Amino acid sequence: MSKHASSINIDPSDLPIGSSLPILPLHGFVFFPGMGFPLQVKDNSSKQLIDDTLLKDRIFGIITHKEDEGDPNDPNLFDVGVAGYIHKLIKNEDGSYQILVSGIKKIKTREFTQQSPYLQADIKELPMEEAHDKKINALTMNLVERFKELVEITKLPPELIMTMDSLNNPFHIAYLTCSQLNIDTKQEQKILEIVKLTDLLLAVTKKLAERMETIEMSAKIQKTVKSDIDGKQREFYLRQQLAAIRKELGEDNENIDLVDLKERLHDIKLPEDVRTVAEKEMERLSRIPSSSSEYTVSRTYLEWILDLPWKKSSQDFLDIKQAEKDLNKDHYGLELIKKRIIEFLAVRKLKADSHGPILCFSGPPGVGKTSLGQSIAKTMGRKFVRISLGGVRDESEIRGHRRTYVGALPGRIIQSMKKAGTNNPLFMLDEIDKLGNDFRGDPSSALLEVLDPEQNDTFCDHYLDVNFDLSKVMFITTANYLENIPGPLRDRMEVITLSGYTEEEKLNIAKKHLFKRQLTAHGLTRDDLHITDAGFSTIIRSYTREAGVRNLERKMAAVCRVVAKNIVTGKTGKTTVNAKNMVDFLGQIAFFPETSTYSWGPGLATGLAWTPVGGVLLFIEAAMMKGHGTMKMTGKLGDVMKESTAAALTYIKAHAEELGVDEELFSTKDMHIHVPDGATPKDGPSAGVAMVVSLTSLFTDKPVSKDVAMTGEITLRGDVLPVGGVKEKVLAAVRSGITDIILPFLNQKDISEMRDNITEGIDFHFVKKIEEALKVAIPK
Ligand SMILES: Nc1ncnc2c1ncn2[C@@H]1O[C@H](COP(=O)(O)OP(=O)(O)O)[C@@H](O)[C@H]1O
Ligand SMILES: [Mg+2]
Repeated sequence: MSKHASSINIDPSDLPIGSSLPILPLHGFVFFPGMGFPLQVKDNSSKQLIDDTLLKDRIFGIITHKEDEGDPNDPNLFDVGVAGYIHKLIKNEDGSYQILVSGIKKIKTREFTQQSPYLQADIKELPMEEAHDKKINALTMNLVERFKELVEITKLPPELIMTMDSLNNPFHIAYLTCSQLNIDTKQEQKILEIVKLTDLLLAVTKKLAERMETIEMSAKIQKTVKSDIDGKQREFYLRQQLAAIRKELGEDNENIDLVDLKERLHDIKLPEDVRTVAEKEMERLSRIPSSSSEYTVSRTYLEWILDLPWKKSSQDFLDIKQAEKDLNKDHYGLELIKKRIIEFLAVRKLKADSHGPILCFSGPPGVGKTSLGQSIAKTMGRKFVRISLGGVRDESEIRGHRRTYVGALPGRIIQSMKKAGTNNPLFMLDEIDKLGNDFRGDPSSALLEVLDPEQNDTFCDHYLDVNFDLSKVMFITTANYLENIPGPLRDRMEVITLSGYTEEEKLNIAKKHLFKRQLTAHGLTRDDLHITDAGFSTIIRSYTREAGVRNLERKMAAVCRVVAKNIVTGKTGKTTVNAKNMVDFLGQIAFFPETSTYSWGPGLATGLAWTPVGGVLLFIEAAMMKGHGTMKMTGKLGDVMKESTAAALTYIKAHAEELGVDEELFSTKDMHIHVPDGATPKDGPSAGVAMVVSLTSLFTDKPVSKDVAMTGEITLRGDVLPVGGVKEKVLAAVRSGITDIILPFLNQKDISEMRDNITEGIDFHFVKKIEEALKVAIPK
């Protein structure tokens, strides 16, 4: 509300005011009779008051609130106020009202008769007698003269002098003077309440004299101070002036968010060099006009600096016993893995600052790599962030773009640090084996820097252009296929291999973890849905084929969705899902036991293969037809696999007699070896044993036992050499209902490392020579 007086042409001071008025509370100043003021009202109740008053006689009461910031709905008002007359109403665009009001009478409230929508009170008019005696004339004239002096020396608007000259009511003269004296509301109110004119004139004269004195005194002080302004103050004044000039030019950047930024910069803890850079940028920012695009660039940069957790760490609370409990709570099984994680954490606890190796969880999808990382973060009390490196080909994705690029941003590492909000999160680099690299620069070299404890305390993001300390971060990486991780990266990691789950493990994970989670996610409870053990096993066996439990979880979600839909559409009671009615929930069976899909006969053998997503059965088919001893190989076989087929044939030719193979076949027949599925590329030497078995079975016309699967590399002499990926291969065999597995003798140790309940019920045949394998595979 403006406090400037303006002269009012209409004189409504003779209007009768009645005995009840709507009351508008004022905050922070006192309205005097004889004054004209523009008032702004915003709240709805005041607006309604104005609307109603305009429809009537335009007169309402204006009374000051006892508190400057009082509650508008609480009529804690002074008793004495003013009756005002509305001359004009302007409705502003923002919905507020601007009214021009003049104070016409002095009033006193007797009683409030209404609280809402606005206050209404019974009032009485307080007299303002215009007695003219000599004393009053003298007091009034003196007041007018001194008031004019005041206007001159304090640079008040010169119109005030004209206004003063136009007044002849001594009350009004006193009130106008009083309103320009900068005295506080309570004192103003006191003046308003004075009844006797002489008392009023004396009181105001005294206040005016006081005011003049203060002004003269402060002028004197200023003079002395000004003469010895030192360099600092001079700079301060110049800056003030500069700011004023900028403001004039419309380059006023001291907007609220700049002030805010400055405050944040002041409060935040930053490394010394970063502070220097940030302050320079702040300085620059306040010189750029906010309309320029540079401004946004500079401001975004500063915000990044301010948002990053340069010095903010979370407190580790690593309790090994608790960690063990936490890991067990979130994950079923994985005993060996958990043990190694606990050991790793224990070492970290002992050597808090140790730049230990970086953990790498390797294994097929859905075996719990990511969720183990989350559990570790939880148990250590660290934030968890994750980026997926799958398909990252560009160094700048890791390290960001220089700020000279339009729309440049920091790289993913720094972005994740901002997300973490602490400088010591657990940072998971997912699918590190899927990093690409091409002409856009090699992201693995940037990662190398991230993961190297010797270098990562000064990690440089191109966008930030100042070093960020990553040394407190705990990195964990994950991979499906270790061979694809660039060598130097792999050297920094301590690999923990997670193999796939057995059916029994999956059953337990499903029952103890996934099911509960899916129920919650679908708003269901155990009273709504029950899946029997046989039901779970059916999902595992007939609706999924995977090493992990991802699809299993998805299929359970699908069951939950059907049940949720049924409930929504009116079904009541508990739904029980078992092996038999699973079809109603998941549709027709998707997977049959692999061996059952082949029409079994001589020439067909079951091999075992390792893939990045787990082990699989690999069927080798051999057939022969009339010809003259050529051999054809199909099924997208790689060179190594073709060579191993050739070696198998050579071995059989060389040992035809012992194997009971008719040698004539080699010149009268053509052979064909096919490995389905034909579209998937396959390679490696580990199918050697299966090749020999398949061909021998073909030539001797004796079928291979359906329950036997095999893996192993062969030599021309018939030795069986060890192979990799044994655990995954065994798991795949178990999944498919195989009961006998032929393995190279030297792979025995892999099996002894596996838990007993996985290998239970499986007969392992460890062989040194191919003859031994043939004996098992082709029972005479
Ligand atoms: N041993 C386990 N116990 C409980 N839940 C598991 C286990 N292994 C995996 N899961 C769950 O399976 C899902 C997939 O696991 P995830 O960590 O994403 O696998 P990955 O990262 O290895 O691909 C997650 O919901 C996870 O919690
Ligand atoms: Mg994952």
